[in-house]
Amino acid sequence: MKTLVAYSSRTGNTKKVAEAIYEVMPEDAEIVSVEDVKCLDKYDFIAIGCWIDKGTADKKALEFIKKVKNKNVAIFITLGAYPDSQHARESMDRIKKLLEKENNIVGEFICQGKIDPKLIEKFKSLPPDHPHALNPERIKRHKEAAKHPNEEDFKKAKKIFKNIIENLESTVCSQ
Ligand SMILES: Cc1cc2nc3c(=O)[nH]c(=O)nc-3n(C[C@H](O)[C@H](O)[C@H](O)COP(=O)(O)O)c2cc1C
Repeated sequence: MKTLVAYSSRTGNTKKVAEAIYEVMPEDAEIVSVEDVKCLDKYDFIAIGCWIDKGTADKKALEFIKKVKNKNVAIFITLGAYPDSQHARESMDRIKKLLEKENNIVGEFICQGKIDPKLIEKFKSLPPDHPHALNPERIKRHKEAAKHPNEEDFKKAKKIFKNIIENLESTVCSQ
C-alpha cells in the first residue's frame, strides 16, 4: 500500500508531527511538503497535515486538499487552541468536510502547537474587546501551546497512525 505523508508547516510544528508519523509508516512511504507533491496517482493512503489558520487548513494545505480524490486519507492538525476545545473540533470538521465527499477518511489527530511569538507580540496591542486580545486565560493557553508538540504528542500521533496503517493493511489483505 503506497503511502504519502504530506504536510504544510510554517514554523515547524506540523512538520515535527509529520516526521513522527512517518516513522511508523511502511518502509516505502514518502514524506513531502504539500507544495512539493508532484503526482498523487500512485498513493493509496495519504496522511495530510496542516496548521490551522483562522479556523481551517492553512492556504497551502487547502490548495493541496483540492487535488486529493479517491484516496484513503487521515488528517492531522496543529493549532494554538486546546486540542479538546470546540474550536479545534470545528477546525478539524471543516477540513474533513472538504475531503469526505471524494475520499475515505480513516482517522485524525489534533495537536496543540506553539504560536509564533511575533503573532503573540501583535496580540499585545489589540483593544481589550478583540477576540485575540491578551487576558489571563489566553496567556495561560499560549504558555501551554508553547510546550507543544512534545514527546507525548509524538507518541500519541505514532500510536494513532500505526493503528490506521494496520487497519488499512488488514483490509487490503482480506480483499
Ligand atoms: C496567521 C496565523 C493564524 C492562526 N490561526 C489560528 C486559528 O485560527 N486557530 C488556532 O487555534 N491557532 C491558530 N494559529 C496557530 C497555529 O495554527 C499553530 O501555532 C500551529 O501549530 C502552527 O503550525 P506550524 O508550526 O506547522 O506552522 C494561527 C497562527 C498564525 C501564524
